[in-house]
Amino acid sequence: MQPSQTRSTILGIGHYVPTKVVTNDDLSKLMNTSDEWIVQRTGIRERRFIEHSGIGASDLAVPACKMALEHAGLQTKDVDAIIFATLSPDHNFPGSGCFLGHKLGLPGVPALDVRNQCTGFLYGLSIADAWVRAGVYRHVLLVGAEVHSTGVEFTDRGRDVAVLFGDGAGAAVIGAATREGQGLRSMRLHADGSGAKDLWLEAPASAYIPRLTPQMLEDGKHYPQMNGKQVFRWATEKMPEVVREALGDAGIGPDAVDLFVPHQANLRINQMVGQKLGIPEAKTVHNIERYGNTTAATIPLGLSEAWKAGRCDRGSNVLMAAFGSGYTWGAAVMTL
Ligand code: ACO
Repeated sequence: MQPSQTRSTILGIGHYVPTKVVTNDDLSKLMNTSDEWIVQRTGIRERRFIEHSGIGASDLAVPACKMALEHAGLQTKDVDAIIFATLSPDHNFPGSGCFLGHKLGLPGVPALDVRNQCTGFLYGLSIADAWVRAGVYRHVLLVGAEVHSTGVEFTDRGRDVAVLFGDGAGAAVIGAATREGQGLRSMRLHADGSGAKDLWLEAPASAYIPRLTPQMLEDGKHYPQMNGKQVFRWATEKMPEVVREALGDAGIGPDAVDLFVPHQANLRINQMVGQKLGIPEAKTVHNIERYGNTTAATIPLGLSEAWKAGRCDRGSNVLMAAFGSGYTWGAAVMTL
């Protein structure tokens, strides 16, 4: 493919969630929590969990990718590269992109895993965009997929984190824009490791000898730990900030946004962000009540559902924004 001056765009989008619905009441049977506490603080009513052992993030990605390819009018053989964003890879290594490529029947196609948590889809999009614009690859399959349900602790000790997360996948085919004005107009990414331990999974860790001990297991170091209040504070400050940067780069104001697809970590965070930016609820995607936080999957999952429901279409200005563990955060503006 020749280097192209054109922008990259989403040629097709898809999603998949497992069939097992887990309500807040279901969780309250496992730990000291309640539907009222969860809904009031997070907006989450239910989430999806994998049906049985043996289903990894790459398995959830397969149907999402097939849906995205169909939406793009492409076949699996048209994929030139895979980017897989996840914080819950099937296994520590190799990356889930390799598993996915094999499951899709794509021997030899390069596969890159991106480990940027809730901002993973946007980091992946920036790489896909650069590849497409530079003429390196024509069709990049960009995936965000997570299986959280096997990695959180369903006890009183783990309840602050366990109630937040769900399993799911979203995928997009990124390729060259063909119409005037179409494509990715701006992208801003940030990271600040001073907050790394505010939301992290400590072990197993290559920094420790040995990486995992019975004591670490006893202490629950293999489960995510979160300083919720600190994450909340940063998210409500950094998301509006980065959105203003991205809108400024794109040369548009919040009024020109047709659809806002924020990362789904907490309904209250997104409502506060929307209010700060002056973007109405009617233009904002909220699906956290049904899926919880599916981390790297939330943006493609939300955009796919919204597109299918007719809330956006070719020509729409879509704003995407995320904040998460790292800390990492980012925003992008794309005309579909
Ligand atoms: N059910 C019932 N009670 C609970 C639960 C639970 N699931 N979890 C904690 N509590 C208790 C606490 O123990 C505490 O009790 P205490 O007052 O007796 O000490 C009380 O509820 C209040 O806890 P807080 O942590 O102060 O609750 P807060 O109002 O801060 O809400 C929440 C917690 C919802 C986690 C909020 O801080 C939040 O959403 N933070 C942002 C989280 C986030 O965005 N995380 C994901 C980023 S995504 C990524 O990168 C992977």
